[in-house]
Amino acid sequence: MKNELIKLAIEAREKAYCPYSNFKVGAAILFEDGKIYTGCNIENASYGATNCAERTAIFNGVSKGNKIIKEMALIGDINGYTYPCGICRQVIAEFAESGDIKIYIVKNENDYIETTLDEILPGSFTKKDLNK
Ligand code: THU
Repeated sequence: MKNELIKLAIEAREKAYCPYSNFKVGAAILFEDGKIYTGCNIENASYGATNCAERTAIFNGVSKGNKIIKEMALIGDINGYTYPCGICRQVIAEFAESGDIKIYIVKNENDYIETTLDEILPGSFTKKDLNK
């Protein structure tokens, strides 16, 4: 599954709409239905309306009826490692099966870092904190 996620994230990156930053990002996410949903960053002339690749992929999976992220891969800069932005970390936390989910930060098919949500978003605020 890891290799498939990495391959699909690399492919999704090519679909990026990023005429302002020229910074392509692709994400591939395995959800509880066993399928992988992908996404790219989609920029806008009104810069703040930009959507990151991770959120595009999450909204893709959730809009098909999913609510649980099991594993994911992300690729941005091919000369370095691109980690999810703060907003995306929060949105990943909303749907992650647990803090242990694996996140692959990909440079290319043979070069990636394996991390977890807990590692990149310690002390997260999520639904578990509400209604106490
Ligand atoms: N970007 C992502 O797609 N994901 C991230 O986690 C970091 C930033 C995109 C947004 C924008 O289109 C470009 O990268 C430069 O910030």
